Parts: sequence; C-alpha cells; structure tokens
Amino acid sequence: MPKGAISHGLRILRSIVTRDEVIKEYPDKAILLLREFPDRIIQKLWNALGRPAQSRRPVQAIGRLIHRRARRTQDHEALSDYTRFFRNPSQLEVLRDTVLDMDEGAKLKLAVLGCSSGAELYSALWTIRTARPDLITSAIGIDISRTCIDRAIDGTYPVGSRAVEGITETTYPRLFNMEADTFTVQEWLREGVTWKVASACSAALLAEFGLQDLVFADNFLCHLPKENEEPCLRSLAGLVAPNGMLFVSCVDFDVKARMLASLGFVPVTARLEDVYMEDRAAREAWPLKYWGIEPLDKRRPAWTTRYARIFRRADSERPEKAEHSAR
Ligand SMILES: C[S@@+](CC[C@H](N)C(=O)[O-])C[C@H]1O[C@@H](n2cnc3c(N)ncnc32)[C@H](O)[C@@H]1O
Repeated sequence: MPKGAISHGLRILRSIVTRDEVIKEYPDKAILLLREFPDRIIQKLWNALGRPAQSRRPVQAIGRLIHRRARRTQDHEALSDYTRFFRNPSQLEVLRDTVLDMDEGAKLKLAVLGCSSGAELYSALWTIRTARPDLITSAIGIDISRTCIDRAIDGTYPVGSRAVEGITETTYPRLFNMEADTFTVQEWLREGVTWKVASACSAALLAEFGLQDLVFADNFLCHLPKENEEPCLRSLAGLVAPNGMLFVSCVDFDVKARMLASLGFVPVTARLEDVYMEDRAAREAWPLKYWGIEPLDKRRPAWTTRYARIFRRADSERPEKAEHSAR
C-alpha cells in the first residue's frame, strides 16, 4: 500500500478517535473505512484458505455464516442493468424442451420482469419461435428504468458490448442484422412484444396483462431492499398461470422455497444443476457478497427446491400434467 494512503488512513482513524477537524473534512470516508474494515479482514481470511479448503463441509458452514452476515450488513447495490444475450443457455434449453411439448398452434404468453435492455426477452423469444414457429407467442418486457426500456425497444447493441459478448452473426441464425458496428434484433422477433416501464412488484400488472404462461424474474429480486423481496416475489408469482413456469434467480433461498411451495409451485428438475452452475459470477461471489450463491449441496433436505431456478405452478385441476412437465 502506498505510504500516502497509509498516512491518509491513519489521519482519518486518528480523527475518529480525537474528533478533530479532519473528521469534519472526511466524514464519509472515515465511516466507510470503519464499516468496510471487518469485510476486508473476512475477505482476506477466506481467500487465504484457497479453493480445496473452501470446498470442505465445515469450512462451508463458516461460509454460510459469512454469507448471512453479508446479507445483513452490505448495502444492496444500486441496481445494475447488466444483461446479456443467452446469459444462461441451459435455462433456455429447458424452455425449448417445454415448448416442444406444447399443442400445435397453441397460444403462449411470456413476461420478462426486470428485463433491462431486452437481451433476456429476445433470447427467450428466439428460442421459442425457432423451436416452435407455429405457436402464437406474445411477450411483455417490464423494467423500472425508462433508459433500459428505450434500449430494449431500440433493440440495437454495439458490437463488442457486454450484452452481445460471445455472439457472432452466425451463432443464432435470424437473431440479428449486422449493420456497421451494431447488432440489431430482427423484425420477426419484435412482433407481438410490448414494453413497459413499471415495477415488477406492482399488483397492477395482473390486471393489465393477465396471467402469463412463462414468467422470467432473473437477477433483480436480491438487490431490492430486504423488506421488498418477499412481497415482490409473491406478487410476480401471482402472474404465473396454472401449469405455467416461473424462472427466478437472485433471491433469498429460504424465502423462495417457503413461498413457492405455499403457492403450489414445484421445482423443475431438468438441467437443474447446469442452470445453477452456469451462474458463475454469483457462485464465485459467495460467501463474501450478499448476492453470491452457495455451493450446490445435494445432502441438504429438499435440495431441488432450494437450488432450482425454474418452477412450475401446479395445475390443481390437472396435477398429473404438472408432474409430467416438471421432468
Ligand atoms: C441485473 S439486471 C437483470 C436483467 C435480466 N433480467 C438478466 O437477468 O439478464 C436488473 C434489472 O432489473 C431492473 N429492476 C430493478 N428493480 C426493478 C423493479 N422493482 N421492477 C422492475 N425492474 C426492476 C433494473 O432496472 C435492471 O434493468
């Protein structure tokens, strides 16, 4: 650490003790330094253990304590709008297999909540319409940010931007038109799509758009203020039609398991582990970041409910169908 930074840090610390003029000058920095100090120590100790030790059971129990603390003490981030086309390919494979099972010419309603600049919605729609062009598919994309929705409507992404990372003109046929330095979503994927600036937690969505066969709620719930996470999950789960599917990630596991079970959702076990493992950033962020996800542990009771990121709402009138489609 540079000498200047050390003396600056010491000056701030001294100011905290002596309450001299410096604390008036740097109050934010002083408070931040003190608040982050335990986190930095924990991070250093955890990283020092190395991967093999971290994967041992007793150490993971310590990891769970660290994570619990992170969830309690860390400020939830100002929401990032990070998104990417085909962010979780296994999830989309489950989606593809699901629509392949549908009746000829059936209607399908898709809702993507917290859709950011549209990559997730367009990826899902491409998957559905490529696998089953005969289905009558409509989609709604909802985000709280006007800027995100404007970008989604525009459907144009600079080559080299994070949204189109790893995608070439030929990776997904008929997804994009290449124009100069941009990828632009093709017209056939924009048909039947409605975009809206709104909160995904709003109960008014049900009245406005009705029940949906497929609801995506990825990567925003855990960033909401803690007290909003559970009511928001309840509200958006209410959008899912009987026998419909909910794709949900970045959410408190205990809240998810308790609530979805009480509302009659069953975990979809197809590709469960692949879908979970593909969220590499969240896996690597555990246990130090509140949004990190714990190592998948099949010895835990009801582990499929805990780790599933895809759920089907049981159809009370046709329970055997919900069972069948969960495979
Ligand atoms: C990290 S991005 C995730 C985008 C996409 N779902 C994905 O997984 O790639 C989170 C998005 O959720 C949006 N968001 C946050 N809170 C929201 C809320 N209450 N209702 C709707 N959108 C919200 C943010 O504006 C941001 O675009």
